[in-house]
Amino acid sequence: MANFPKRLLATVGAAALALPLTATYAASPADPDRRAREVLARMTREEKIALLHGRMLSLIAQAKRPEGVTVGAGFVEGVPRLGIPPQVSTDASLGVSNLLDMRRGDVATALPSGLALAATWDPGLVREGGRMIGSEARAKGFNVMLAGGVNLVRDPRSGRNFEYLGEDPLLAGTLAGAQIDGVQSNHVVSTIKHFALNDQEIGRSSASVQMDEAAMRESDLLAFEIGIEKGNPGAVMCGYNKIGGTYSCENPFLLTQVLRSDWGFKGFVMSDWGAVHSLGSLQAGLDQQQGEQIDAKRWLSTELVAALDAGRVPESAVDIAALRILRTLYAHGLDTSGPLKSEIDFETNGAIARRAAEEGIVMLRNPTSLLPIAASVQTIAVIGGHADIGVLSGGGSSQVAPVGGFRKIEPVRGGPAAAFGRKGYGGTPPLDAIRASFPTARVVFVDGADPEAAAKAARSADIAIVFGEKHATEADDQRDLSLDAGQDALIDAVTSANPRSVVVLETGNAVVMPWAQKAGAILVAWFPGQHGGEAIADVLAGKVNPSGRLPVTFPTGTDQLPNPVMPGSDLPPPSKDERITYGVNTNSPPFEIRYPEGSDVGYRWFDRQSKQPAYAFGYGLSYTTFTYSDLTVEGGKTLSVRFAVTNAGTVAGADVPQVYVRLEGKAKRLIGWQKVRLAPGEKRIVTLKADRRLLGHYDTARQRWAVPAGRATVELARSANDPVLTSAARISAATILP
Ligand code: BGC
Repeated sequence: MANFPKRLLATVGAAALALPLTATYAASPADPDRRAREVLARMTREEKIALLHGRMLSLIAQAKRPEGVTVGAGFVEGVPRLGIPPQVSTDASLGVSNLLDMRRGDVATALPSGLALAATWDPGLVREGGRMIGSEARAKGFNVMLAGGVNLVRDPRSGRNFEYLGEDPLLAGTLAGAQIDGVQSNHVVSTIKHFALNDQEIGRSSASVQMDEAAMRESDLLAFEIGIEKGNPGAVMCGYNKIGGTYSCENPFLLTQVLRSDWGFKGFVMSDWGAVHSLGSLQAGLDQQQGEQIDAKRWLSTELVAALDAGRVPESAVDIAALRILRTLYAHGLDTSGPLKSEIDFETNGAIARRAAEEGIVMLRNPTSLLPIAASVQTIAVIGGHADIGVLSGGGSSQVAPVGGFRKIEPVRGGPAAAFGRKGYGGTPPLDAIRASFPTARVVFVDGADPEAAAKAARSADIAIVFGEKHATEADDQRDLSLDAGQDALIDAVTSANPRSVVVLETGNAVVMPWAQKAGAILVAWFPGQHGGEAIADVLAGKVNPSGRLPVTFPTGTDQLPNPVMPGSDLPPPSKDERITYGVNTNSPPFEIRYPEGSDVGYRWFDRQSKQPAYAFGYGLSYTTFTYSDLTVEGGKTLSVRFAVTNAGTVAGADVPQVYVRLEGKAKRLIGWQKVRLAPGEKRIVTLKADRRLLGHYDTARQRWAVPAGRATVELARSANDPVLTSAARISAATILP
């Protein structure tokens, strides 16, 4: 018999199976465990196994699909006779996606990308976004949302960074928790994903991340740990990659030791689509195989039945998994929360997407106060970036068909992303929004295909606004950090022709900007979602004071990165006969990914190496100025920090004062921040307390966090490399269980 965790078997075996078959459902929803045990006791093996695997209805002929079920990413049958609801899932973190138009013409409110959400540094707003997308999921008939993407940004070439929440575990974990909490406020179960270290796309289903345990616990795992604590997701989605040679979805260290034993996670583990490779995954802690048609075998259905019959897997293993799923459905009220389908108020929801886009725009440069543009401006040249069509969105499973639909959509060519990566433009075209914001100006548009024509238009306008794009998609990584072909030359020509040129970037990642010093102003709008056009115009016109701060470091080039050559990017490209389904290349060669930065991700790596990036983590400008004063730090068990922020300028605005700690011999670390909205002249006191895990390290030998006694230097800063005030305090030694 396979080696199943004995402790778990004992609990489930005794509790669930001892219940009488006639148990009634008197238990309150507040006691999902009891309810789950009672229901489990009444289920047949077949019914239990039905919960353990999900199908992609999009791959099933219409006539064979279950009636009335919305087609999304996954479908898990329910058990009507016991009132167990089916699980109908949709992607993802940025809204209800509609991959490859599987529900013909169906649209949803498109939030800005994850990096834009992270750039707001505002958990309240991110929660509101989560609540909104969760409500749309529910209204469309879904009750599981594959949101909560929290993989850390380790390499600015990774194709999926746009879905995630930046490079810092505290920031990303806090925001993921807020998003999940918002989604789940609709009686929709959210995932947190992709567990873990699925931090690049090249070789995503064949590469193995080699990292020591302490480094993992202090970085990517910490982001998940915080996200789970704050968001209480019903499910964890295990990723495609291997860790230490073992696939994430069959990795007992990840799924049983860390997640269940150490963190006490009570929900269930679902696989990513096409990420299961053996029945051993059940034994390791996987509860649900999703997208089963694209795996080599139906491990948690056909294969499982055969193994049970042959006595190779104990029946109680099925009980463990089914119980975790059931208790999650009950804990989140999926069985009692009423009819699924309803009307959506797209106008109200659109306002949330717009606010998120506004708050996520980061102003990198404005040396001569070119921005905001005066209402009296007479001529504006808008150039490039398909600004006449819409805003760019990232490709893959998270891509949302925005309200109004895509105005232009084209497949990416070549590589594993070709199957489903799409370059889509939608939402309000920035050109229209700019025209509406400057009604008395003459606004001309040139598409930017000819840099000379663009330069000419820029020269004859008071102000030029030139858009720069870099597309990104799931299932592939970017080859470099430059804007998409031809655009650096275009921006160079425009900024050379007219110093009063504003560059607006729509990218899924940090990029290099060889023309930066020539630009009159630079705005990073990321993939700004369906109301990104209006948000950009409002920042340009000063109706919105920019308050976004970078959630990732912008390096000067790939030579500053821990891996100047991205792991796997130098391997031969896939040959034609390789099997590529759903962005998963099942034949790609195995290779190892090593991250020299370990837990010193992003700005911590730059700090450790004493390197100056182009723009630091946490950086962003405003139309007003903020001053910091009265920093006090109290030590002891943790660090308690208090300071004052004042808006010393003449317009209202929001600031994000950040607190970093530097401990003996270690790279600095973010321990807190607050987004503070202030009227001119207004002053606010901010108090923060450090999470003690951030003051120590993970002691692998003792399997706990260790905080050594010592002196901590605390920086109150505008960004990771711009401390304004510094103080210090002693912290006392402590150990903390994970
Ligand atoms: C992605 C997941 C997604 C799933 C279902 C996979 O390709 O990695 O994030 O939830 O597909 O669409």
